[in-house]
Amino acid sequence: MRGITAYSLYVLALSLAVQQSAVVAQELEIEETFAEDEPAAPQAAIAHPVFEPYAEKVSPGAFFEQFTDGWRERWKASNAKKETPAGGDEEFSYIGRWSVEEPKVYRGLSGDKGLVVKDKAAHHAISAKFAEPIDNTDNTLVVQYEVKLQNGLDCGGAYLKLLTDEANLHEEEFSDKTSYQIMFGPDRCGSTNKVHFIVRRKSPITGEYEEKHLIGAPHMITDKLTNLYTLIVKPDQTYEIRINGDIKKYGSLIDSQDFDPAFEPPTTIPDPDDVKPEDWVDLETIPDPDQAVKPEDWDEDAPLLIPDPDAVKPDDWDESIEEYIPDPEAEKPDDWDDEEDGEWIAPVVPNPECEDHGCGPWEAPLVDNPEYKGKWVQPKIPNPEYKGPWAPRDIPNPDYYEDKTPSNLEPIGAIGFELWTMSNEILFDNIYVGHSIEEAEKIGNATYSEKVIYEIKEEESSRPKVAEPDAPKSMWELFKADPINYSLYQSELFFTFFKRDPVFAVKQYPETAAALGAVFVTILALVFGSILSLVGASKKASAPATPAPTPAAAKPAEEVEGSSSSAAGETEAKKRSAKN
Ligand SMILES: *[C@@H]1O[C@H](CO)[C@@H](O)[C@H](O)[C@H]1NC(C)=O
Ligand SMILES: *[C@@H]1O[C@H](CO)[C@@H](O)[C@H](O)[C@H]1NC(C)=O
Repeated sequence: MRGITAYSLYVLALSLAVQQSAVVAQELEIEETFAEDEPAAPQAAIAHPVFEPYAEKVSPGAFFEQFTDGWRERWKASNAKKETPAGGDEEFSYIGRWSVEEPKVYRGLSGDKGLVVKDKAAHHAISAKFAEPIDNTDNTLVVQYEVKLQNGLDCGGAYLKLLTDEANLHEEEFSDKTSYQIMFGPDRCGSTNKVHFIVRRKSPITGEYEEKHLIGAPHMITDKLTNLYTLIVKPDQTYEIRINGDIKKYGSLIDSQDFDPAFEPPTTIPDPDDVKPEDWVDLETIPDPDQAVKPEDWDEDAPLLIPDPDAVKPDDWDESIEEYIPDPEAEKPDDWDDEEDGEWIAPVVPNPECEDHGCGPWEAPLVDNPEYKGKWVQPKIPNPEYKGPWAPRDIPNPDYYEDKTPSNLEPIGAIGFELWTMSNEILFDNIYVGHSIEEAEKIGNATYSEKVIYEIKEEESSRPKVAEPDAPKSMWELFKADPINYSLYQSELFFTFFKRDPVFAVKQYPETAAALGAVFVTILALVFGSILSLVGASKKASAPATPAPTPAAAKPAEEVEGSSSSAAGETEAKKRSAKN
């Protein structure tokens, strides 16, 4: 009873909160391509040295981006529409917002900004044109950048593309259709977890591009620290992928085991005009003509099992006693009607007299029949006419071309991110595209290696110190302490999430969603003035709301624990957003 009263209060308090939150919920339209700069998260006790831009000038012709002042001059978000494949007439624009801001999770250097993917489940595209196209003909190409997955990466990409320098390369029009030379970087979804290395190579014969994917690409790193990804393509036709300076994969571009498809097309292909001759025999075996009839002594009817001829009846076996008897304890039910239900028969039970020895007619146990042969089938022999499986003959591949220098790419005019992700807050920084491995290492030492020290300190200090503090309070306890505050707080949280992702919000806060549903029904009921339906509705609505604040004792321990620990996490998130 106490539960129902409390629940009604909760519903009432929520209905107050609904009016407030509905106003907030309208502000969710996303139109801006660039998100507002958000102030950095408050600092723990760890000292963060102030970020200083990389002091040395990078080699002429190299591209280096630290997202310092003036980045808006260099980077342009795309206005392109993204076409859906296979005739769908729906189009997606790249509405995902970008922002240049400091990280919020495990911060490194104070004032160190990066380019951040702001929206979940949205298409994002942004690119920066190089002052001069980068040409790596007979020269080393190094691509290096930092990725920081502030919200992890459940499903999405964090790779970059080096865009082909061509007349129609316009940043506003950058899309998935834009020609690129190399795609490099982390990607994760479901069972996929890899650092892509894809080269788009144009056939001089057909003029078509083909994507050459690295086989056995290394795994990405999924923590929330900054990780440094480096790709090196050398003029000796070798490549190298480094993560945080460690070589994770290297090999040869011209080794056909490393790329799918290989850089060089096959020299021969199956002749598409070759047809299977009419008289081609591809039957491997035929029935043996010498054994066309069933042997006379083959008995198809011989049973699989027969009574064991060697078995003997045990001496104490008593065939005169029944193995089962009517249950002496059973009684005809009072409401049994012989006319309607038929004559009453007591159920049978094992005869207690047979506990120590066998009873009833004795039968020998069944054993395999040595005479059993089963159905006769005509034996088969190899077909003397058999020519083997037919396959078209190989002919020289008309599209074959030699590619002795796949490391020589077409000139690269820009760098771009064209991404879709379920995890936002991916931060990119310190992007280098140039020709010097040493320069890339030097930059890595001066940027990545410096900041990651403080990120690790942050991460370590955020770990729980000693044993868990007091177990978080159950929702019921929190509710009891201050029902109105609790309800307002819960619905505010719910709406915060609902604005971004309604499905997620309902999943995460089923009890709030159910209670809000109840509020809705309650209001309806009040409008129609029917008190009866009010009671019915709130009772019904309380049933599916598993962790709703009815007394916790009635629920399995697991659920109570789960919901209260998520409440603890919410408090954390609330604190942070309150201070922002
Ligand atoms: C980068 O730092 C490592 C480790 O301190 C050092 O061995 C390496 O020589 C440095 N590289 C450059 C190019 O300065
Ligand atoms: C309201 O509830 C929330 C969460 O239970 C709590 O963090 C907050 O301190 C409460 N506020 C007041 C004024 O009690």
